[in-house]
Amino acid sequence: MIAIGSDHAGFGLKQALMQHLTERGLEYKDFGTYTPDSCDYPVYARAVAEAVARGECERGIIVCGTGIGVSITANKVKGIRATVCHDVFSAKACRQHNDTNIITMGERVIGAGAAIEVLDAWLDTPFLGGRHARRIGLISQTENEYFK
Ligand code: RB5
Repeated sequence: MIAIGSDHAGFGLKQALMQHLTERGLEYKDFGTYTPDSCDYPVYARAVAEAVARGECERGIIVCGTGIGVSITANKVKGIRATVCHDVFSAKACRQHNDTNIITMGERVIGAGAAIEVLDAWLDTPFLGGRHARRIGLISQTENEYFK
């Protein structure tokens, strides 16, 4: 199960990404927003991040105007490794090296066609483990020491 959410500025791109997930036969849960009316992006970023952190969803997708605010928010939730990502190279690298569990994008930055290519690369790329797992462990250690 994939968690997905957006604010008003990411609402249109979220719709396109959900349609793509459906076409791929991938299950998702939409954490809102459910209308294009103005709203506060941390609310929806937090809901997606908590669903992933709880293990209710394996991965998450969050869209806002830039992808930045929702990424900052999601990374405040323990266990989340989120990044804003608008290119295929970074989408693969943030899975292979960083084992990201949330990808964020900005509807004001990227069109739906390119966003779908980025999303597919991210969904289909496995974590490489090995030395990268040690580094993820160091991230978790930092997190555990600062977020009690
Ligand atoms: C909303 O205007 C905008 O600030 C938000 O979607 C996001 O880009 C914040 O980082």
